[in-house]
Amino acid sequence: MMLRRVLAVTAVVAGIGVLTAICFFFWPHRLPTVLATASQPQGEDLIARGKYLVTASDCEACHTAPGGKPFAGGLAFKLPFGTIFSPNLTPDMQAGLGSWSDAEFVRAMRSGVGKHGEDLYPAFPYTSYALMSTDDILAVKAYLGTLQPQRNPSLPAQLSFPFNQRWLMRGWKLLFVPWHPFERDANKDDRWNKGAYLVEALAHCGECHTPRGLMFEKEQARALSGGDVDGWKAWNITSDRENGIGGWSDQDLVAYLSKGYVHRHGPASGSMRQAIDLSLSRLPKSDIEAIVSYLRTVRSLPSSYPKVTVNNLVPAIQSAQAWSPGLNKQDGLGLRIFEGACASCHGFDGSGQNAPWASLAGSHSVNDPAGSNLIRLILQGSSDSTHNPTTTMPNFAAAYSDAEIAAVANYVINHFAGRNGKVTPSDVAKAR
Ligand code: HEC
Ligand code: HEC
Ligand code: HEC
Repeated sequence: MMLRRVLAVTAVVAGIGVLTAICFFFWPHRLPTVLATASQPQGEDLIARGKYLVTASDCEACHTAPGGKPFAGGLAFKLPFGTIFSPNLTPDMQAGLGSWSDAEFVRAMRSGVGKHGEDLYPAFPYTSYALMSTDDILAVKAYLGTLQPQRNPSLPAQLSFPFNQRWLMRGWKLLFVPWHPFERDANKDDRWNKGAYLVEALAHCGECHTPRGLMFEKEQARALSGGDVDGWKAWNITSDRENGIGGWSDQDLVAYLSKGYVHRHGPASGSMRQAIDLSLSRLPKSDIEAIVSYLRTVRSLPSSYPKVTVNNLVPAIQSAQAWSPGLNKQDGLGLRIFEGACASCHGFDGSGQNAPWASLAGSHSVNDPAGSNLIRLILQGSSDSTHNPTTTMPNFAAAYSDAEIAAVANYVINHFAGRNGKVTPSDVAKAR
């Protein structure tokens, strides 16, 4: 088994090496010829279409530094071998995209190639955007061109050798970037096709929810069965009833995706919260319904991480008057911290004291004995852009030690899901 694996990996690495060598000499860095079709809107309609597409594909989330101007870039991406920064997308002639031609922009979105022919890393999700139509890519460019130019120069990448040799990406790209834009499926209705385009191309759900293989490629055979985003679990969203969203009603899914929380499934935190705040919550309801209609047809798959089934204890907690702090004597430290730092917003019955946002009822994160998302949320707080105190979870990284955060996480898992939390102080240290 082991030997076969080693051989398989060696074969893949060698294969990519050969491809890369070939690509180095023959890579088609030619600029594509780009022309919009006759159905492309014009004038203000074009800008409106571009604005919609930029929202649906959430360019802002990655191209804005914390506290910085929207789309002016500068957000750091820590890769295993260095750090890269998102560039400035505003139309400044020097610092931004002001001098880019249509063809250069289409090439960047389809093949991950920068203005001067440099290969871009797939932290820029062109593996999804390659599915966008040429008309839509041009509409995105037209809208970005109407933004206020910002002069912050894009920051140079800090990469170690050999990863600073960007052309090494070429073999990888040949294998893992789609070759053709999305094609509509004539056997399905318009709503489904719109949902497929949103999920696969624009909203790039798979960049987070699809597990990655040894080469960091999305494992399409296990599409949407659960991915890892900086240690957060982006849950299985295939139609599997036990592990995925097969057990969610359409209404619940629509509410979660458009508002960021739903009674019985808890709130969205981390990068999902951000995707909802900046993108999904700003889309028309018909788009969200289209997404749900497509997700319903995604083949059911077991999760890519150890199975986490959701144990919804909240009705029991709420009806049993016996639930009060201090009942479970083993809770000790975790209970004390919850009482002091968390209960004012969350309540002991999980209903969310002040805002439905804080309702922990049935949340996947509190059912995961490993507490992967829970400890990261306690450390980082919400990625809330509105700074509205009733919808924001503060961060506790500085307030508590690793042991204290592990204790409160285990208390939450035990109290709200009836499971034995397995969070250790070293798990917390790793997540800091
Ligand atoms: C998940 C994060 C992420 C999202 C979402 C994202 N980008 Fe990027 N983008 C990046 C990163 C990181 C880079 C730099 C890659 C590198 O240096 O190899 C980049 C690079 C680019 C470049 C190359 C610019 C240059 O100066 O070389 C363009 C153009 C671009 N992105 C446009 C977009 C557009 C348009 C959208 C939305 C449709 C978008 N990006 C969404 C992360 C993202
Ligand atoms: C930038 C990464 C990212 C993107 C893009 C993303 N998600 Fe998520 N998603 C996550 C993470 C992380 C979680 C876990 C959040 C939590 O536990 O609160 C999550 C949670 C969810 C959940 C809740 C599942 C459960 O069992 O509780 C659903 C449903 C979901 N995402 C659907 C989608 C859909 C549909 C899209 C595309 C339209 C999408 N996500 C795009 C990262 C992402
Ligand atoms: C000021 C109010 C406030 C305080 C204090 C607070 N939270 Fe939260 N919490 C929220 C809000 C609002 C959300 C939902 C929004 C989000 O996650 O971004 C949330 C979400 C959560 C979630 C759900 C995560 C998910 O993905 O399903 C958990 C678990 C949680 N908090 C635990 C805690 C713990 C443990 C503490 C104490 C250490 C705490 N909270 C303190 C407001 C608060």
